[in-house]
Amino acid sequence: MYLHWLLLVLASVGWVSNAENCSFADYSSAYKNIFEHLGLDKNNILMPDIRPLYWSHTTDVYVDLYVTSIIDVNEKDQSITTQVKMITFQLNGLFWWFEDFCGIQTIAVKKDMLWTPDILIKESIKTEFGTKQSPYVQLNFWGMSVSVDILALTTACKMDLYRFPFDTQICNITLHSAVYTKEELTINPFSNNKSLSQESKELFQAQGEWELLSIDISDYTSNFLWNSQDLLIYQITIKRRPLLYVMNIILPVFVFLVLDVMSFFIDASGTEKLSFKVTLLLSVSVLLLILNDTLPSTSDKLPLIGIYCSAIFSLIGISILETILVNLLKAKGAEKRSVETTAAITGQDNVEDLQSPPDSVRDQDGMQRSLCWTRVARIIDVTFLVLYIITVIVFLSVLKRTWFP
Ligand SMILES: *[C@@H]1O[C@H](CO)[C@@H](O)[C@H](O)[C@H]1NC(C)=O
Repeated sequence: MYLHWLLLVLASVGWVSNAENCSFADYSSAYKNIFEHLGLDKNNILMPDIRPLYWSHTTDVYVDLYVTSIIDVNEKDQSITTQVKMITFQLNGLFWWFEDFCGIQTIAVKKDMLWTPDILIKESIKTEFGTKQSPYVQLNFWGMSVSVDILALTTACKMDLYRFPFDTQICNITLHSAVYTKEELTINPFSNNKSLSQESKELFQAQGEWELLSIDISDYTSNFLWNSQDLLIYQITIKRRPLLYVMNIILPVFVFLVLDVMSFFIDASGTEKLSFKVTLLLSVSVLLLILNDTLPSTSDKLPLIGIYCSAIFSLIGISILETILVNLLKAKGAEKRSVETTAAITGQDNVEDLQSPPDSVRDQDGMQRSLCWTRVARIIDVTFLVLYIITVIVFLSVLKRTWFP
């Protein structure tokens, strides 16, 4: 288990190489000699097919996986596209003593000349090589082979968008062998959690919507049918930078709500107020459309931002209904008053002296009734405004508490 550490230390101690004593010709022949020494020059067909067994009957593969950028996070498809750098180390028992070969400590060997572990990614939907896949594996004189792959991985990731856009997502990348059981092949992490996260953050290239918080490694054994397999899970925690959504959705919708409240104080005819409010409603519905493009339609819990937008949409809708009602009452009052006044005026015109007292009584009665309608309208308006403001405050504070617990 700790053999590789020992070997690494040995390698880094650094013997004095005798490369200086080698001429160019010696050097190139030494290079060839290593291949001969290792038996790689022969067309040894078995070499790539046989799992190397040295020191134990289990082959230990060591893996390091660095997330170098997050290319795309698709909430609708629940997938994440990352660029990862995967370094695979494994001991393969091909040794040479570099002193004998002009101090050559590492050579590059074609991948298909050696056995390489068949590591699959469980969540993978699509894998592309970020650059052209290197056809070579690096071999060390102390029997370790190192291969480096840069992959653009699209993996499935179950996302919880309840707190969108103030959300943190955890996506797993699970490495496992396709065919080998736990007894045959173990996949081990090479670096520990901390250094892997640190290194990934340093390698992280993009400054996009997502911030890489940490990478955690856990080793699992899965039992599938009669096989038990070794799994290595990389748990990638990423956090969204919410500013764009705050600026584009949350803030405008809030401003529309404030405008709606303020529109109660517009001193204008009812229809003008109504058209102002309807414009607000339309603006909110445009923002709802934008939101619709981002969030998945199937979600266990409705995202809070959806609740926020549709609740404000409904509030504005209700306030429009109230404005219509108040308009109706006001119109009724005004209509009554004008009818009564015209009747009074014509009555006064036609009959000058007679029946004047009853007329004015009727007139006053009508005036009173029309005043009554207007007063009812005003009372409804004020009561509604107070209730409306209370509702908005309660709604926003409850929402804030659920959003940022
Ligand atoms: C991710 O891995 C962790 C273990 O590290 C596990 O508990 C969790 O269920 C996994 N998540 C998914 C979506 O598979």
